[in-house]
Amino acid sequence: MKILITGATGLIGSRLSRQLHDLGHEIVITSRDRERAIAKLPFARDVVEWDPVRTPAPAAAFAGVEAVVNLMGEPVAGRWTAGRKRAIRDSRVLGTRNLVEGMRGARQSVTGTRNLVAGMRTAAESSPNSMLPEALVSASAIGYYGEGGDRVLAEDSRPGEDFLARVCVDWEGEAARAVTAGARVVIMRTGLVLAREGGALASMLPIFKAGFGGRLGSGRQWMSWIHVDDLVALYVEALTNPAFEGPLNAVAPGPVTNSELTETLARALRRPAVLPAPAFALKLALGEMAGAVLESQRVIPRAAVSASFRFKHETLEAALRALLKG
Ligand SMILES: NC(=O)c1ccc[n+]([C@@H]2O[C@H](COP(=O)([O-])OP(=O)(O)OC[C@H]3O[C@@H](n4cnc5c(N)ncnc54)[C@H](OP(=O)(O)O)[C@@H]3O)[C@@H](O)[C@H]2O)c1
Repeated sequence: MKILITGATGLIGSRLSRQLHDLGHEIVITSRDRERAIAKLPFARDVVEWDPVRTPAPAAAFAGVEAVVNLMGEPVAGRWTAGRKRAIRDSRVLGTRNLVEGMRGARQSVTGTRNLVAGMRTAAESSPNSMLPEALVSASAIGYYGEGGDRVLAEDSRPGEDFLARVCVDWEGEAARAVTAGARVVIMRTGLVLAREGGALASMLPIFKAGFGGRLGSGRQWMSWIHVDDLVALYVEALTNPAFEGPLNAVAPGPVTNSELTETLARALRRPAVLPAPAFALKLALGEMAGAVLESQRVIPRAAVSASFRFKHETLEAALRALLKG
């Protein structure tokens, strides 16, 4: 299958692109910096330079493309200035709108060609260029649910109302428009992705290894995580299995509280973790973004489990052991 991936140069995208390539799929990626993307993912069949906030994706990028994965987005970690908040929102909401606009443009140009030669089975119809994306698998985040306390959150739970929740709602709404471009749409509400090379775990490791780890705030907030290998497998499944449609919680079946996460990581590293970061200090250091760290989201992967997806790393202990070995 030929697959177009946005945000392919990122943490999830580079793992997923490599896995899809290894499975024999042809990868086309978009990036704001073509040279950097080629250097990072040299196996990509094509790299399309595109600034997703400014213009619709070029229709030519979709030539022969059967499925699209949408992973682009300004990183959320770090202090949120007004400019960062705008970038976090625009790169997802406007970026996805422009992606779907490009998919629609590609559909119109292909169906236009087909109509011109109506009634005849032409070269255009049988050529790979006349393929249209049949699936859009688009990232979202469990931030969709906002502050959930101890409530168990499944895909049909209500969205929250804070900044990230509103971004997620609008981001998902833009992706859902691809239905009118004839695509099956899957929305990956992703939890905290655990990977050795980047994301939350990579930032926590040096602190915990130095013995300065500790719970964040009360430590009672639920954290829903997923091992990066399971996330990649879930993306592959969502791309290839038509049973997957609509929102999907991309989290492991065993969410933990922040205290449990802290203790499990410290145990895995054989280090103490007795230096808690009080909520007020986090708010001072991170401003509004501290809310995202202190928010409680006890999310379960109901849709993935009903579609018989098998997680390789069901417990945090097992996931961390696999990630930290060697
Ligand atoms: N990692 C997690 O724990 C996690 C959790 C929940 C949800 N997600 C979501 O999953 C998606 C992928 O996550 P990730 O961790 O792989 O992200 P990432 O490593 O930060 O990479 C995202 C990619 O988006 C592009 N990008 C960055 N800033 C942008 C901007 N201002 N405008 C347009 N494009 C921009 C970059 O590609 P180019 O520079 O090549 O253009 C970058 O490689 C994101 O949308 C993220 O919100 C991730």
